[in-house]
Amino acid sequence: MTASTNPLVAFGAGKVILLGEHSVVYGYPALAGPLSFGVTARGVPARSCQLDVPVTADAAQKRLMRKAFTRAARLVGEPKVKVTLEPQLPLSAGLGSSAALAVALSRVLLQAAGQVPTPKATAQLAWEMEQEFHGTPSGVDHTTSAEEKLILYRRVQGPSGVVGRAREVKSPRALSVVVALAGARSPTKVTVGALRERQARWPERYRRLFAQVGRLVTEASKAVEAGDLEGLGDAMNVNQGLLGALGLSSPALEDMVYRLRGMGALGAKFTGAGGDGGAVIGLFLEPGPVVAKLTRDGVRCFASQLAGPRPHGDRS
Ligand code: MEV
Repeated sequence: MTASTNPLVAFGAGKVILLGEHSVVYGYPALAGPLSFGVTARGVPARSCQLDVPVTADAAQKRLMRKAFTRAARLVGEPKVKVTLEPQLPLSAGLGSSAALAVALSRVLLQAAGQVPTPKATAQLAWEMEQEFHGTPSGVDHTTSAEEKLILYRRVQGPSGVVGRAREVKSPRALSVVVALAGARSPTKVTVGALRERQARWPERYRRLFAQVGRLVTEASKAVEAGDLEGLGDAMNVNQGLLGALGLSSPALEDMVYRLRGMGALGAKFTGAGGDGGAVIGLFLEPGPVVAKLTRDGVRCFASQLAGPRPHGDRS
């Protein structure tokens, strides 16, 4: 760390996957965007490289955070900095909290080591941490968080192994979702692992479903670029049907999906790993009244704009 005593502050955005979760693990594309909520990391000079884990994390989460931090810290020469974390996102809800944390930590560690936290350098270091959190993730979560843009993401075979490729998808219209939490979620590793077993047993059947999701993602990104939010919403609805076919949905998630559709969502589906519960997104032209109504009814929810023009000064 430099001689300065100014704290280093960095943000890592949470993410939502609009379409393509799970099939992205098998090399098909996913469309994902950053949330305005995330994790803030603060670093102050210290005698050694240390992490103060958030009190809201449970014992297993704290252990994983320390392990991931140690792995990343070693790679940048263990700068003498003490890092604290302020999560503004629910942990383990399918909103990319671990990736947000990894990106915020990477930015602080890189700066403390005297390096520039470019999106590429940040994503590389965050990837090391994500492997501790999730084993063999696709990389879509931390790439979306590091790029802070709506991206079309895909794992591709490069000369030195599998790498993630992302390109920005620009929206001529404001693209906003309501994110609503529905039930307790199963760990991502468990949901991803159970699907892996099914696809290993019946590979051709699952390959067909993944390929269908991949085609929907391509159609959805074209719809976004054309300003066709109705087309995007329809693709999200069909993706939800295929996620059900893949055995990844549940009554709690389906109830919330139908509730959001009943409130006028152009499209609604779960986002992230799914399983017993987690986060559901609804695409709305006017999300404000929907959030107000759901909140009155006791649903934990918020709205976030993922892409498109923003009213001047608006970051929500
Ligand atoms: C988790 O946010 C998304 C999954 O597709 C897993 C991954 O991409 O690594 C379920």
